[in-house]
Parts: sequence; C-alpha cells; structure tokens
Amino acid sequence: MQTGPSNKTISTRTKPDREQASSRFKARKAAKAAQVAKEIAEIEATKEAEAAKLAIMAEKDSQDTTKRLTREEVAKNNTEDSLWTIVDHKVYDLTDFIDAHPGGNVVLKQFAGQDATTAFYNLHRHEVLHKYSDLRIGTLEGEKSEVIEPHAGDLSQVPYAEPLWLTPAFKSPYYNESHHKLRKAMREFVDTHVSPEAHEKELDGTYISQELVAKIRCSSCGRARP
Ligand code: HEM
Repeated sequence: MQTGPSNKTISTRTKPDREQASSRFKARKAAKAAQVAKEIAEIEATKEAEAAKLAIMAEKDSQDTTKRLTREEVAKNNTEDSLWTIVDHKVYDLTDFIDAHPGGNVVLKQFAGQDATTAFYNLHRHEVLHKYSDLRIGTLEGEKSEVIEPHAGDLSQVPYAEPLWLTPAFKSPYYNESHHKLRKAMREFVDTHVSPEAHEKELDGTYISQELVAKIRCSSCGRARP
C-alpha cells in the first residue's frame, strides 16, 4: 500500500538552538507580562488618584464648617457690591463671580439676596457647585441640604429612573451578586472617567482624549473594549 508524504517536519535545530529559542520565548513572554503589569499599575494609579480627588471634593462639600446665616442676612446682600444667593440651603457670595459667570451677570443680579435653587437646578448640573465650592460662605440656620449627593457607581434615587431589576427589592437567580458588582464597577468607571470628559467635549466639540481611550482599553489584554 502506498503511503502519502509525511506531514511531519523534521527539525534541523540542535538542542542548544532549541534551548536558546525557548529562553528567548520565555524572555519575550516575561517582558510582555511586565509591560502589561506596568500599564495596569499606571491605570490603577490614575483611577485611585481621581477617585481620591472626587472623594475629597465630596467630603469638603458635605462638611459644614461654614457660617450659619439667616435668610434675612442673605436678603440684605442684594447689590452688585455684595451679592449673595441661596442654592439648596447654602449661601454663595457671587460678588466677585458676577462678571465671570458663563450665563452672564444679568441673571445673577435678578437673584441677588434670594433663593435661586429652582433656577439653578433648571440650568446647571449639580457638579457645578463642587467646582465653585469656594464661593460658598455659609449654610442657612436650622436648614439642611435636600439634594442627595450622588456618588460614582450609585443607583439613581429618582423614582423609576432605574430599570426594575436593579432595584434592591427585585430578586432574581439570573441577576445575582456578581452581576451587581460588575454593574457597579462599570458605572463607577463611567461616572468617574467617561461622563465628566463627555460633558466637557460635548461643550467644546473636540474629540475625547487619548488618556480616556487608554483607560477604556481592556487592562488585562490590551485590546479596546468591545
Ligand atoms: C452658585 C451660583 C452659580 C454658579 C456657580 C453658576 C455657574 C455657572 C456655570 C459654570 C455655567 C456654565 C455652564 C455649566 O457648566 O453648567 C453657568 C451657566 C449659566 N447659568 Fe449659572 N451659576 C450660578 C447661578 C446661576 C443662577 C442663579 C442663574 C439664574 C437663572 C444662572 C443662570 C445661568 C445661565 C442662564 C447659564 C447659561 C446656560 C446655557 O448656556 O445653557 N446661574 N452657570
């Protein structure tokens, strides 16, 4: 019986050649693993630094080390030379900010000495108050903030804002603890890194940064997330 040509390739490499090739392969593998570990460490360090910065800002905002003021005191500061306004039971001195306000000075003058909570939340994101927390000079005597401070990764407290299966009351064997953990981690990532830059880029019309693209890349395999 005729047999076909053998597929087996006979190696011409000697044992030392093979050993050399094997150690080259191991060295390449180790270098790649070291590079991946370095990239992961860099991403983790940035993530930690940004999370720490946000936590400090939120902590600073929730701490109430400022003065206690009455609505009457605020009402007296209603001129361009001393312009105070109230947002969510907190008092802001906008005197030096009037001309720097991106929405113009006219609107701020209209709310001089008054409670501008509704007008403010109709036009601004809550995070604006974090950015301008230096303007805060006090809190209203006997009053407490009503706005629920959002934290990265949290579910929305607004009724019906979240799908039913994410609410704590809903129990399903198909959506268990590990799914909740993954969901929270993804939201934390989006809330911390993606949303702030997306808002910024929406306003100036430019592309997202390469740093954000790098963060979105899968840290374990180095490929872009699908
Ligand atoms: C603590 C007080 C306030 C601060 C720190 C503040 C800050 C800002 C900032 C940073 C923006 C740029 C857009 C943004 O980042 O959201 C803005 C826009 C604007 N603000 Fe204020 N603001 C304050 C109070 C007010 C009040 C009381 C009004 C009264 C209606 C007002 C009316 C507007 C308007 C009309 C815009 C332009 C919105 C647009 O172009 O879409 N702001 N403000």
